[in-house]
Amino acid sequence: MPKPRKTLGLIFEKSSTRTRLAFEVAMNQLDGSAVFLANADSQLGRGEPIEDSARVLPAWLIAWQYGLLSMRSCMRFADYSSVPVINALTDDFHPCQLLADVQTFVEHRGSISGKTVAWIGDGNNMCHSYINAADKFDFQLKIAAPEGFEPNADLLNTHKSRVQLSRDPKTAVQGADLVVTDVWASMGQEEEQNQRIASFAGYRVDEELMALAQSDALFMHCLPAHRGEEVSASILDAADSVVWDEAENRMHSQKALIEFLLTP
Ligand code: CP
Ligand code: NVA
Repeated sequence: MPKPRKTLGLIFEKSSTRTRLAFEVAMNQLDGSAVFLANADSQLGRGEPIEDSARVLPAWLIAWQYGLLSMRSCMRFADYSSVPVINALTDDFHPCQLLADVQTFVEHRGSISGKTVAWIGDGNNMCHSYINAADKFDFQLKIAAPEGFEPNADLLNTHKSRVQLSRDPKTAVQGADLVVTDVWASMGQEEEQNQRIASFAGYRVDEELMALAQSDALFMHCLPAHRGEEVSASILDAADSVVWDEAENRMHSQKALIEFLLTP
């Protein structure tokens, strides 16, 4: 009998293009397989306890992408699962995206250690993962966020030697080697979209703002992007924009993560 192929369970509540494709293609290339379970058409979506779902999935690895109370649910799922659980995006963090972002920086500019990264916009899940990454990968993070949209205060406090928070995007991008932004309304916040557009006025990454960063500064966005809102079309579509490499690297970095987690 040939050895059974390893299976990755993908349990997703929210929409996804990149994360799902990256995991599925990565598993295929590693000669394993992936099983996708959308919240809407699984028993989890009908209220089956997380603890029970965690114990019945016949997989070697689980990628969990969830919204409401997501970090707590993710941890509860991991507690009851006998296999590693990857946070594939929660309302609080998006660590897999950071693997791709750091890989992309290294490919284009070398080590990110000692560099300066500017985060412009919402203090959301991506911003939180950038704060964690600043510590892990040894860079300084300058965040510009409007009042009421700052990142989690405890997380900021834990990493205060790495992170500076201001209101002014121009101050944040000064001297930055990498400028990053994300949508102003994340998944689940669609109803706040119009109010957020007003709150984030002045936080668009455009040519004028990028001109204040280092002359060879890179621009990144996890995508999907809203051209003309958080980023101008000219920056996103510039010939040297690295957002497409960044998206491709989701697959390469998640493949490495799978190998790391499954290699004894
Ligand atoms: N960047 C990212 O996580 O994209 P998806 O929502 O398409 O997976
Ligand atoms: N902050 C965004 C990231 C999408 C990949 C969201 O949560 O919708």
